[in-house]
Amino acid sequence: EKDVQNDIKHVLFTKEEIDAKIKELAEQVDRDYAGKDVLLVGVLKGAIMVMADLSRALTAHYTMDWMAVSSYGSGTKSSGVVRILKDLDTDLTGRDVLIVEDIVDSGLTLQWLQQNLQHRGANSVEICALLRKPKSVKTDVQCKYVGWDIEPEFVVGYGLDFAERYRNLDCIATLAPHVYS
Ligand code: PRP
Ligand code: MN
Ligand code: MG
Repeated sequence: EKDVQNDIKHVLFTKEEIDAKIKELAEQVDRDYAGKDVLLVGVLKGAIMVMADLSRALTAHYTMDWMAVSSYGSGTKSSGVVRILKDLDTDLTGRDVLIVEDIVDSGLTLQWLQQNLQHRGANSVEICALLRKPKSVKTDVQCKYVGWDIEPEFVVGYGLDFAERYRNLDCIATLAPHVYS
């Protein structure tokens, strides 16, 4: 196994910066959902770290559930037509739902997901994403909580993968060119 540090080109956000940002997001969520019984919906697998840290930074009692989705099509780009690989266990009728995501890239997955969950009778469906690429977003999907807007370059770590690797990095970073070749 090669040294992971050699694969990193540039660290965008350190563990400390991520911790502080998650705390900020949690304060906003706590404030907006005071007195409500919020259901956190994590989107597997990228959202695992955000969910783990955000849910523990929240002060009130929150429940969580998970979905796994996949875009139709052969390409690597999101098509906007989404297939559910693992559905929620929770009935959404009347629920206040907060979708937890690592990144909004094209926004196509989230736009579909937000509409899908809303149609199940949820009272509200909002989105919390740690990262967003404004120059890549192709929809008008509204994220109520965003950690950072970043340039449209490929990033890994803190749940984000390249070919299922680097999810366990505690920072968010770009990869050295040799990784792709
Ligand atoms: C990534 C990321 C978001 C989605 C964003 O997930 O975690 O869920 O893509 O893309 P979009 O805004 O263009 O729709 P991916 O499909 O790589 O699955 P993963 O979370 O299991 O890595
Ligand atoms: Mn994902
Ligand atoms: Mg991925």
